[in-house]
Amino acid sequence: MTALSVLGNTTAGLPRQDATWWRQAVVYQIYPRSFADSNGDGIGDLPGITGKVEYLRELGVDAVWLSPFYPSALADGGYDVDDYRDVDPRIGTLAQFDEMRAALHAAGIRLIVDIVPNHTSNRHVWFQQALASEPGSPERERYVFRRGLGEHGELPPSDWTAAFGGPAWEPVGGGEWYLHLFAPEQPDLNWANPEVREEFRTTLRFWADRGVDGFRIDVAHALAKDLTEPLPSQADLKADIWGGAHPLEDRDEVHDIYREWRQVFNEYDPPRTAVAEAWVPAHRRSRYASPEGLGQAFNFDLLEATWDGPTFAKIIDNNLALARESGASSTWVLSNHDVVRHATRYALPDGTDLEAWLRHDGAEPRPDEERGRRRARAATLLTLALPGSAYLYQGEELGLPEVADLPADVLQDPTFFRSQGAQKGRDGCRVPLPWASHGPTLGFGDELAHLPVPADFDRFSVESQEADPGSTLGFYRRALAERRRLQTGETLEWLTNVPATVVAFTRPGGWTSVTNFGSEPVPLPPGRVLVASSPVDGRSVPAETTVWLQSSGQNGTEQDG
Ligand code: GLC
Ligand code: CA
Repeated sequence: MTALSVLGNTTAGLPRQDATWWRQAVVYQIYPRSFADSNGDGIGDLPGITGKVEYLRELGVDAVWLSPFYPSALADGGYDVDDYRDVDPRIGTLAQFDEMRAALHAAGIRLIVDIVPNHTSNRHVWFQQALASEPGSPERERYVFRRGLGEHGELPPSDWTAAFGGPAWEPVGGGEWYLHLFAPEQPDLNWANPEVREEFRTTLRFWADRGVDGFRIDVAHALAKDLTEPLPSQADLKADIWGGAHPLEDRDEVHDIYREWRQVFNEYDPPRTAVAEAWVPAHRRSRYASPEGLGQAFNFDLLEATWDGPTFAKIIDNNLALARESGASSTWVLSNHDVVRHATRYALPDGTDLEAWLRHDGAEPRPDEERGRRRARAATLLTLALPGSAYLYQGEELGLPEVADLPADVLQDPTFFRSQGAQKGRDGCRVPLPWASHGPTLGFGDELAHLPVPADFDRFSVESQEADPGSTLGFYRRALAERRRLQTGETLEWLTNVPATVVAFTRPGGWTSVTNFGSEPVPLPPGRVLVASSPVDGRSVPAETTVWLQSSGQNGTEQDG
């Protein structure tokens, strides 16, 4: 047994001093309200997660990232936080959080929590105090209040628009307005204020002290702002983005904040980790991933790419170079709670306008489900072979498709409401998981589910897939087990003598991954097949398939097997 498999199988808790665990971790994102409901109220909860730790251990993930579980009115799926140091009573208690954390750790699984620092919710005590206080008061200085334009301040301070649609300023009376880059229920904090900085360091320590191993930092690129008047117009904002001096996005001084956070992370042993959700172009990403900053940043390039070999190869090359530059490891993401699931993206013709497709309830164009599944499995197996960490989103291991035909009266995403229905939003990837093949919520809970579970999700249920070795779940389990056994150095060597539609590389120890993006089979390179994303005959790599091989003459696996 190798050292790595000991780590994976341990039930005695985590090895204490491993400060590099995150570099090549498989991190499984849980959207808590849709994962597992332990008490039948229709809302997934922390005891529900605790009850599925064995499932996560069998799946073979190294860490869990929990999307927000804090008290919230759910104006934006929990990304509107009322209190950063508590648990939503509908989801659990702090004691139940500790139980979940202990159960994960006992299974050898680390825990990452989501921190939402760009904005609080409008129900946060600070915002309530701000509303009750005078313009110019210290209470208002924690947020971004401005006097409106016009004689009585009746016009917004600028024409900026919010990410979910509508204006980015909300009036509070007396000619005063506050800034919200997202929903009106998400007032932006003023990060120039030392009190705000101190508050978040306290929150980071609060969770680190409770045994949390790392943090996912929401909207990490937007905290620092330059609101010197006169404020630029929306049209001016769009010009000169990504130079480090844009008023709202990716300002250079945002990294001063993360340098302070790094000091907090390093107070712990092993140091706490962080990954930035920073929607910035690749060449700006390394700053967030620097070891003096957050340490790692999401790379969403594959999530935005179409199914195309040369495109994938270029993205991989580029991101490995960026990782070398920053000293971080790379991150690979195909799905998360904000985008159409990759099994569905790949089932649609290239260039499909996903928003328009959702608006038509997914009717036109019709997804080719079989093709989507095939490509999704191939893309997943490819990314799992890459150096760096892989972020998986709950349900992708079941091959779940996007639910595009949720009726308007169940939708929750503020995108839908703020766009007056023009955009359907992100609920279709947040539908509760089907654990069982029968019952009104397919084992998610009892009778109720906060978003309806489609009846035909029975085909994807954990119960039905556990019985089928050819299932997507079985495939993920095999791939993750092999990866854990094979993963060593963070290098990759391209195989160059391959057709243009093929992406192939070898990792240390002779671990070879070959992806055929084309529609015709290509010859299988020599070696023993370890895992394949669709059935192989031993001679060729079928169309739209990834195969992992152990190259002959290499050490390690031959003896183990
Ligand atoms: C991030 C989250 C998204 C949320 C937004 C505002 O992009 O991933 O779900 O709506 O931030 O907090
Ligand atoms: Ca519940």
